[in-house]
Amino acid sequence: MRPQLPPRLARLADRRPDQDSFSSRLHEQRTAAILGMALGVTFSICFLTGLISFLHQNPVSWFTIPPRPAGLYRVTQGLHVTTGIASIPLLLAKLWVVYPQFWTRPAVRDAAHLVERISLLPLVGGSVFLLFTGVINIARWYSAMPFFFPVAHRWAAWMTMGALVVHVAAKWATTRQTLLRRGPAPSAEAGPAPGGLGRRGFLATVFGSSALLAATTAGQTLPVLRRLNLLSPRDLDVGTQGLPINRTAAEAGVVDLIDDPGYRLSVEGEVTRSLSLTVGELRSRELSEAELPIACVEGWSASARWRGIRVRDLLDEAGASKDAVVRIESFEPRGLYGISELNRLQARDPDTLLALEVNGEALDADHGAPLRLIAPNRAGVEQTKWVNRLVVGERGVPRP
Ligand code: HEM
Repeated sequence: MRPQLPPRLARLADRRPDQDSFSSRLHEQRTAAILGMALGVTFSICFLTGLISFLHQNPVSWFTIPPRPAGLYRVTQGLHVTTGIASIPLLLAKLWVVYPQFWTRPAVRDAAHLVERISLLPLVGGSVFLLFTGVINIARWYSAMPFFFPVAHRWAAWMTMGALVVHVAAKWATTRQTLLRRGPAPSAEAGPAPGGLGRRGFLATVFGSSALLAATTAGQTLPVLRRLNLLSPRDLDVGTQGLPINRTAAEAGVVDLIDDPGYRLSVEGEVTRSLSLTVGELRSRELSEAELPIACVEGWSASARWRGIRVRDLLDEAGASKDAVVRIESFEPRGLYGISELNRLQARDPDTLLALEVNGEALDADHGAPLRLIAPNRAGVEQTKWVNRLVVGERGVPRP
């Protein structure tokens, strides 16, 4: 017997939608399954490339990031941001297709169904949070996030991917059955409703929107798409010496320190001979050139020609061991990015430079004058600017 509800609640319960309230033919399994597969792929790419970015900034003892290919980070992080952005129409479409399911009755059939339903909370909430915070971050609207973006984004990614595994396990059999079904689809699912879009048209619109979003943002890292670069927040043509800048000398609080006549680069730590060198002494050494990108964690990247002194030459001069790690320190007084680490492979790479020049000119203050690190396959935040100290045998400080 149905329990007697107070009249107001009973009226609300009567107005609650049921399956017949949703007239579109697109609220169906096959469309949901196709969009789910696509999201599974894009979220897995984002998760993997996100973890790669994390490992770049938080080195671990069991894996040494290789310095080659030199442009690998620009590819993985460019892929991360582009794939994340392409996921937005997919997620919106998927949520629209399946939302009538939230009103199925009975709401919970058994224990397995309960677990599956509970997992929707972190899955939907986490997905929306990841895409929302990701976009806000690349738009550099930091004040909209009252938390430290990488930490919140990373934990949301673990939570979402965990819920995704539960969801895939719960839906695997139905998805497989739906996608493998041969022959014409049942009429309720097939063609367009009179005057409306059919499944094909709907999916073409959704995938087309994803492709359009990807094409109009990927130009921030892919030179062939540069002219289509309409939506990415970063205009690659804005910046000093042909390169964009994320953090200026003024923002880092180093303007008054750059021309300090007492400036010295020191090389110390586990060495047989500590060095303390003026800019003139650095310039008098053999300088090398390398074409390397600045590849920002926010997905944009731009190549430049750098000239400076090889880190490995300085390490040899100081008598450091061939497999030493090196902590690179900046004289910037505040901020998270004043310290980074070169692993043993990066420290010995011939293209790992302490640059004095970029694109044929002395480094601008905003690019890290008088001396900055530039090395292959590294995130932009690890290419420490305004360098004044190398500590051999010491690790960098991991990011939170
Ligand atoms: C529009 C979508 C997205 C954008 C624009 C975006 C953007 C970013 C950015 C800029 C970073 C670098 C943070 C930093 O090091 O400062 C990052 C890191 C990361 N992202 Fe995303 N992301 C998006 C979607 C996703 C999705 C869907 C996932 C997972 C399924 C994900 C997982 C991660 C992870 C694990 C990291 C590493 C966090 C860390 O370094 O601690 N992201 N993302």
